[in-house]
Amino acid sequence: MYLGLDLGTSGVKALLIDAGQTVIGSGHGSLDVSRPHPGWSEQNPEHWIRACEDAIAELKSSHSDELAAVKGIGLSGQMHGATLLDAADKVLRPCILWNDTRSHAEAAVLDADPRFRALTGNIVFPGFTAPKLAWVKNNEPAVFAKVAKVLLPKDFLRLWLSGEHISEMSDSAGTSWLDVGNRRWSTDLLAATSLDEEQMPSLVEGTHKAGALRSELASKWGVQAGIPIAGGAGDNAASACGMGTVGAGHAFVSLGTSGVLFAANASYLPNPASAVHTFCHALPNTWHQMGVILSATDSLNWLSEITGKSAGELTAELGDTLEAPSGVSFLPYLSGERTPYNDAAIRGAFAGLAHESSRAVLTQAVLEGVAFAFRDSLDALAKAGTSLTRVTAIGGGSRSRYWLKAIATALRLPVDIPADGDFGAAFGAARLGLIAATGADPLEVCTAPRTDATIEPDAALGGVYADAYQRYRELYPAIRAVTA
Ligand code: XUL
Repeated sequence: MYLGLDLGTSGVKALLIDAGQTVIGSGHGSLDVSRPHPGWSEQNPEHWIRACEDAIAELKSSHSDELAAVKGIGLSGQMHGATLLDAADKVLRPCILWNDTRSHAEAAVLDADPRFRALTGNIVFPGFTAPKLAWVKNNEPAVFAKVAKVLLPKDFLRLWLSGEHISEMSDSAGTSWLDVGNRRWSTDLLAATSLDEEQMPSLVEGTHKAGALRSELASKWGVQAGIPIAGGAGDNAASACGMGTVGAGHAFVSLGTSGVLFAANASYLPNPASAVHTFCHALPNTWHQMGVILSATDSLNWLSEITGKSAGELTAELGDTLEAPSGVSFLPYLSGERTPYNDAAIRGAFAGLAHESSRAVLTQAVLEGVAFAFRDSLDALAKAGTSLTRVTAIGGGSRSRYWLKAIATALRLPVDIPADGDFGAAFGAARLGLIAATGADPLEVCTAPRTDATIEPDAALGGVYADAYQRYRELYPAIRAVTA
């Protein structure tokens, strides 16, 4: 048995697989996001531990014998969060999350230093870790002075699980401190934010061993002490391991809280100007590119909250047949946008509302707006040298056929739906745990699931979708012009 632990934004998932990679069971623990000021997004790292304990407790109550047989653990997590620890490993302040945009001014300053794009292959986005530390230095100097270690969220869980400060390449590539081509910390970039390598965890590849389970937790969970913990991966690279998106030409579209269009690359192909992210993959000598939109299912959840209807109820109102865009456009920039604009200040919009704009029309516009945001990412990936011929859909939002049809039509690409199963980040993490524990060949383990169905672009609606996409494109500069 192998255990995958995925620390998401809305909860922790614990997933158990056997040696043949069959999913045996899972447990869940919930998390909330605190938004104390506009643009802020924080979590208390202690809550991650509690959610992880809840997830394991659920797994233990349903599968205690299988849990007892775990031989390896893999970690996955929401990327970029700044978890600040003092010299005694005490958490100094709430973790500043990936979708927090408070540090946009600091990000712009770092991004203007040409060394950052040259060494990291990426724009310094406000959501990345380095600008957050610059913000803390400017706004909470007493906290900054005490920072002894900066950990990414899943690596804080690793510290709790194993007592060790270790990270891996895929998640560290999202800090703005990693030399992404050479897969090592850059002392120059750390120094540019008044930090040094001592304050960083050591680095391994995601497939390698990075710590072992503490005996205290092992006896509490009823598992063997000293089980190896794999380096693991940031949640996107972990999902890619789960989906078998590890070789060049393979791609997926993820409809989670954030939306990601992810392509695996056999070499380091940076193109920061296109606002594409270029990160290390979880496998050695492998990289990936991705376009990231900050609010994907989060846009639908927002509509759900203000209409009092669940996301499932809202999408059910549309049925399964793709309709022509109604003329109402939605920009999904509820917390700013990364690809293709790198604009933390921009906010979302509905345009073209009329008396007859029903709740269903608004839902349709939200699904289309997110589909068009993915189209922007597709074009950005093409500018970075990666053209895709098909994508596989994953994430909670991919349960909506309507949404997948809108995405296929907006991207003008077939969208594959994997056979029923759980191929997300927790599954990818469990696979990494298996590889680290057994030394198995990562390419033999990280295979793609069978495709259950393929959604083709709706040819009849191609023209009206192209028109609606054009209107969508023209709205960004218009809204930008009236945004402070
Ligand atoms: C990727 C990113 C998000 C988070 C979500 O750059 O910020 O996808 O990893 O958990």
